Parts: sequence; structure tokens; C-alpha cells
Amino acid sequence: MLRSHTCGELRLDHVDTKATLCGWVDGYRDHGGGIFIDLRDRYGLTQICCGPPDSSTELIERAKKLRAEDVIRVTGSIQPRPKDQDNPKLATGHIELRATQLEILNKSKVPPFTPGQSDQPGEDLRLKHRYLDLRRDEMQKTLLLRSRVIKTMRDYFEEHDFIDVETPILGRSTPEGARDYLVPSRVHRGSFYALPQSPQLYKQILMVAGLDRYVQVARCFRDEDLRADRQPEFTQLDMEMSFVDADDIIGMIDGLMLRLAKDLTGIDLQLPLPRMTYDEAMERFGHDAPDLRFGMEIVDCTDLAAEAEFRVFQQPATTGGAVRGINAKGAAPKYSRRQIDELTDYVKHDFGAKGLAWFRMEEDGSLWSPISKNFDAALLKKFAERMAAESGDLMLFIADSWEVSCKALYGLRKRLGAELKLYDPKHMHFSWVVEFPMFEHDDEEDRWVAMHHPFTAPRDQDLAMLETEPKKCRAKAYDLVINGSEAGGGTVRIHDSATQQVVFKLLGIDEQTSKERFGFLLDALQYGAPPHAGIALGIDRVVMLFGGLESIRDCIAFPKTQRATDLMTEAPGEVDRKQLDELNIRVVPLSEK
Ligand code: AMO
Ligand code: AMP
Repeated sequence: MLRSHTCGELRLDHVDTKATLCGWVDGYRDHGGGIFIDLRDRYGLTQICCGPPDSSTELIERAKKLRAEDVIRVTGSIQPRPKDQDNPKLATGHIELRATQLEILNKSKVPPFTPGQSDQPGEDLRLKHRYLDLRRDEMQKTLLLRSRVIKTMRDYFEEHDFIDVETPILGRSTPEGARDYLVPSRVHRGSFYALPQSPQLYKQILMVAGLDRYVQVARCFRDEDLRADRQPEFTQLDMEMSFVDADDIIGMIDGLMLRLAKDLTGIDLQLPLPRMTYDEAMERFGHDAPDLRFGMEIVDCTDLAAEAEFRVFQQPATTGGAVRGINAKGAAPKYSRRQIDELTDYVKHDFGAKGLAWFRMEEDGSLWSPISKNFDAALLKKFAERMAAESGDLMLFIADSWEVSCKALYGLRKRLGAELKLYDPKHMHFSWVVEFPMFEHDDEEDRWVAMHHPFTAPRDQDLAMLETEPKKCRAKAYDLVINGSEAGGGTVRIHDSATQQVVFKLLGIDEQTSKERFGFLLDALQYGAPPHAGIALGIDRVVMLFGGLESIRDCIAFPKTQRATDLMTEAPGEVDRKQLDELNIRVVPLSEK
């Protein structure tokens, strides 16, 4: 080893011992008499003092030429810092190394930003020079957290008899509903592999193969529109079990969350984690991944709205729509008319709502609003009671279709929850949303699509109405929700081919298509498939949530931008003509298209 200690290790106990450290020049101060260097490595910072009597003139001259991010090796004796120069914020802040030898291992060009600078550089610059960005303390902490999350997961599943199996990256299209990334085959010209959107089909086949409990830290690829919590290439903790039902999977993941929360944050979770059905989540929060760190639940006032002589309310209330609202407790004095107008623009632009109706409760217990003249006092009183209003409360209502009211109120609740600081951002809340609908209707294409994927089993009590009332059928599906984010999702699978055929038929997948797309799975299911179920957790998202981070890109060493490019390697890039010829691929210039 080139060093005897790390830069985070030395304490007063080491005084008068000799040490050799290696690292990067983080900071540099010339005090005339001596040069002080903050030497940094992954483990911390140590102050190096280059000055008489310990350091030779030649060493001091060499130290004077050092610049930020140069890589050096220094040897010297550990001494307490002079009086008043202690830095209690630093673990090594009571000592310094008095240099007797200093070797420059490598010079650095002037970096576009330094890891220690207080203002964070722009993200594009950070991604382009990721090697510099990853030197930053926060980034190293996050990568360490990620490594621990994965280690804890692997240990946990090993203790529970799971077998870690790697599944192919080059394969056939998988049914997760996003666009595939394709890889052309050279050997089979004109044919393509698809990168896996998940190991879904392989893990089901592993159950048919009798592996009983499978787990994998699996890389997945989905060509979809990116958001703050989505990457085109991401990692799942993927698992599948045989001879189990939904409760068993949920229980297994409950245990994992207990372990992760304890090991990573010291929190003792109460098990079982709370569960709520999809219908209840939509009713109370307008979304299938509600943030349960605060209240402000949606209240349905459709029946009251039907009584109102106010078209905006009455019309949707009497024609199958909904009038629902939320009560922002005590928020009336905090929101000016202009701010309420901004909220109105927000629900209009982001969720297609037609407007936002609002009321505030006055000191005298009456409701006031620019539209209150449209309501008689008795009805207003009923609204106030339904909303459990108290003086100073601000109530916001959306009168629209059920779907728009869900989306707009979900958005409002999320925004107000953050603006009014209704929760501690460090607090973590874990829950399950269960019994999702089997199908959603794609209005554009006028057909049913699977809400999770086509291999998801319906609840036993819904089997009979699968064909007659698909809209009402609920699935044996479960999502893990952490702080209002979908951290994982899974289902019990269909393991008999008759039910599978019915589901395919409903989804408009004819026999030929189903054979072409998943023939191998359908075949396998006919050779003694055990009842099985599983789940996948998004590891990047779990790290993001445990780390309290805003962007998924901060949880991945080499992420892609919102436009799916890697700014450091400049992928995707053009390839040689020769490579394309071998693949029998011709790139059509955009003008020809
Ligand atoms: P699903 O598609 O719900 O299920 O994915 C499971 C979890 O993976 C994470 N995730 C993502 N993370 C980052 N970027 C993305 N683009 C992205 N897409 C998904 C989410 C999500 O909850 N095969 C099924 C699982 C099963 O049924 O067992 C599946 O992939 O956290
Ligand atoms: P209007 O009669 O359209 O001028 O609307 C009167 C008030 O009702 C305005 O404050 C609108 O923002 C609000 N409003 C209009 N449409 C809706 C709606 N669909 N839901 C809730 N409030 C609405």
C-alpha cells in the first residue's frame, strides 16, 4: 500500500506516530511561514502542515506549486493542532500531519469545479465531468448508501433461501408496456434482440423450473419519457416465489423494509405496514401512490353540490361527475388572491381542470368565497360541516369528471403539503396499495389494457365477471409506496392457461400474437407451473427515498440526462459504416424520411 492510514482516520491517539497519507489537494493556504493543505480521500480530510522545522525548504517549495485536485503522497508525524486551531466539525480536526516527505503522484488540470466548492455546479457540467462530481462528499455518501441497500437486500434474501439467478440481457420483448431498446443481430440479419424491460418472463419460468425462490439485482431498460424518478436504464430488486399468495410477498417485503429502515436510518418500523385498496387510495388521495406523511384528504361533496343552484357544481354533480375538495387547515391567511389564482392556473394547465372553486371560513363561522352568493346559507353550512371547517381554513374544490378531480386534487394536495410544510421531509412513511384494477381502458385505441401486465391474476371473487364486467375486476396486485412514490410493484400470476386465454382475449391479443410474443412462457405454463407471485422494487428509487434525494440521477453513478444521453461518454453516438454494413443496417438521413 502506498499509505499507512486514510485521510479520515487519524485522531489525538495517533499523536507522535508516523503516518503516510495519499489523496487529493482539497484546499490550500499559504500562511507565509507554512503551507496548509487539506488532503482528501473517500474517508475524510486531514490537515497537512508543510513548514519548518519538520519540512525541508525544498519540500515547502514543492508544496507551494500544488494546485486543487493534484494527487499527492505525504509522510510525517501526527501532532495536535496548535491552540485555537482545532476544527471540531472535522473528525480529524484535532490533529495535523507535519510533512517530512511530499511526493506529487499526479498533477491535475485546472478543474471546471472542485468537489469542495459550496455552490453546486450546473448538472450538465457535473454529468460531463462525472469523475469530478463523484468526488463530492454527497455523491460518495449516496453511492455508499446504494451499496449498503443492495448488500442488505442480498443478505436478507439469502437468509430466506432465495437463489440469485442472472437472466439474459439480450432477449425477446418483455411485457411491461414501455418501448423496447433493440439490439440488431449480426448473425441473423434483420433480426433484433430486445433489452429486458424487466426479467418478468424469465423469473416466471424459473418458478416452473422449480427454483421456488428467485432473486436478482436486475438491470432493466425502458425507452420511455423520463422524469425526475425515471431512467431509461435502472435497477430492480426482482424476486419471485412459488406456492405463495399476495400476503406472503407483502410479508416478505415488509421484513425487508424493517431491516433496511433499521440498518440505514435506525428507525423501528411497525409491521405489518399499513395497506389500503386502490379504490380507497383514489377516493381519499386521488392517486395510487399517496403521500401518507400528512392528512388533508379529499372529501366528496358531490351530493351537496347537486343541491346547489350553481351550474359549475350542479352540472357535474348530476351527470356522473364529481365535486370533491380538500381542506387546507389554517391556510386562508397564508394564501393571497394572487396565490389562489396561481393554484387555479396550475390545476387548469397541469390537469385540464376547468377551474378551482375556493372558500375560506371566517371568524364568525361562515364560508366566504367570490362564488358564495350562488349558495344559500344552509347549504354552505353543510359544506362547512362536511369539510370539518374551522375559522382560517381554506377549502379548494374541483367540479369535474372523477378522473380530473383525482388528478387535480392529488396535485393540489401534494403542492400545498409541501408549501405549508405539513410533513418533515426526513420522516419516511411506508405503505401498500393493493387490489388494483385488472384493466384500464385505452380510450384512444378503444381497448382494454392490462394495468400491470397480462400475466396478473384476478381476485378469486372476480374470476366470474372477468369477461362480463372487466372494469370491475380487481387484481391480486400490490404496490409498495414510500413517501408518495411507487417504490415497487408486483402481482400474483396466472398459472392456468384457461384464465390466461380469457385475459389475452380481453386484451385483444389473439392466439397468434400471444404465441409469437410469449409462446415460450405459455408453453412452460403447461408443464406443471406452480402457483407463483413476485415483486420488483426500484433500487434507484429506494436509494433516492432513503437518501432524501430529489433526483434519481443523484443515485446512479453514471446516469442519463432527461434526453437519455450520457454527457460523459456522449452515448448514444454514431457508428462506423463498416459496423452498419455487417449488421445489414442502413441509416436513412432525416431529409429522406
Ligand atoms: P414495474 O414496471 O412496476 O414492475 O417496476 C417495478 C419498479 O421498478 C421501478 N421502475 C423504475 N425506476 C426507475 N426508472 C424507471 N424507468 C422505472 N420503471 C420502473 C419502480 C417500480 O415500482 N416485472 C414487474 C414486477 C413484478 O410484477 O414482479 C415490473 O417490472 O420503482
Ligand atoms: P365561472 O362561472 O366559470 O366564471 O367560474 C366561477 C368560479 O368557479 C371561478 O372561481 C372558477 O375558477 C370556478 N370554477 C369554474 N369551473 C370550475 C370547476 N369545474 N371546478 C371548480 N371550480 C370551478
